[in-house]
Amino acid sequence: MKKRILSGIQPTGDVHLGNYFGMMKPAIELQGEGETYLFIADLHALTSSMAPEDLRRNSFNVALDFLSCGLDPAKTIFFRQSEVPEVTELAWILSCQTSMGLLERCHSYKDKTSKGMVPNHGLFAYPVLMAADILIYKSTLVPVGRDQKQHLEVTRDIAVRFNNRYGDILAIPEPIIRDSTAIVPGTDGEKMSKSYGNTIELFGDEKELRKKVMGIVTDSKGLDDPKNPDECTPFLLYKLFVDGGKAAEMAEKLRKGGYGYGHAKKELFEIYWEHFRPFRDKRSEYLKDPARVEGILADGARKARAVAQDTMREIRKAAGIGG
Ligand code: ADP
Ligand code: TRP
Repeated sequence: MKKRILSGIQPTGDVHLGNYFGMMKPAIELQGEGETYLFIADLHALTSSMAPEDLRRNSFNVALDFLSCGLDPAKTIFFRQSEVPEVTELAWILSCQTSMGLLERCHSYKDKTSKGMVPNHGLFAYPVLMAADILIYKSTLVPVGRDQKQHLEVTRDIAVRFNNRYGDILAIPEPIIRDSTAIVPGTDGEKMSKSYGNTIELFGDEKELRKKVMGIVTDSKGLDDPKNPDECTPFLLYKLFVDGGKAAEMAEKLRKGGYGYGHAKKELFEIYWEHFRPFRDKRSEYLKDPARVEGILADGARKARAVAQDTMREIRKAAGIGG
């Protein structure tokens, strides 16, 4: 079967290092290894109560971020989820194949409600729309961070059930989760996430970002004390940017003592700021030409929609709906 790589991201705020290493970078590196689809999950973002103008602005900014970080529109079909309305039709059809129990077990739903988010039906049905996103393009590989693993399991479950009932129509997708970047830690050492307020963004004001990096929480060991690199968040982040040799050097300095957390943070900031420098330059170019960004998204939506419509023709026929 043809390799089809697909991933999506909710436009719920500025893209951070967790998103970058967990999903963006792997997805961008896979471009060209098969047909690649990347989309901005603006329909999923409706499950949170964002103001319309914020949603529209965030969607555009996420597009800018992906294009600046190396998404190549000649290799990747890049679009807004909502520009392919067929996906909501498929979500309904899949809903009718999805048990309540399967959705009730989803950690992401349970986490959000336990944190006080008042659930709407969209939040509960979120994994079904995500399954539709994946299945409508017959995707085979889905690069994501570890927090999305269960949603991929739900997708596979729904696809198997659907195929058992209606015939072998849907591809059963595999997640791609890199061990080294499965959970990128945030400034407080917990999983980096927009909802925890512990993020380091890819782009923004240098001073503010330096402050965030220098504010990463560490234990209270003094300059001379030997330190455990595996418990040092600045090191864990630094490691993501450098090769094994450089990482081993910093680990050794930490273990030896005489090298403080402040030093590690400084080195981290430098490598991080340099890493995104060319992307920052590209971003300011795109920013001057929003019509170009919209053109890329429109072109992607047209291509994605043609594929989605083909799948829906097959599905409608198999499910006995339509003429
Ligand atoms: P957030 O938790 O900040 O709201 P999203 O849910 O929008 O992030 O995640 C978008 C993509 O980035 C997903 O594939 C997710 O798995 C990945 N991702 C997010 N945070 C991390 C992290 N800390 N480590 C690894 N991957 C992450
Ligand atoms: N749920 C994903 C997240 O929060 C975003 C998403 C929506 C997605 N549809 C998808 C990811 C399909 C991969 C494939 O990160």
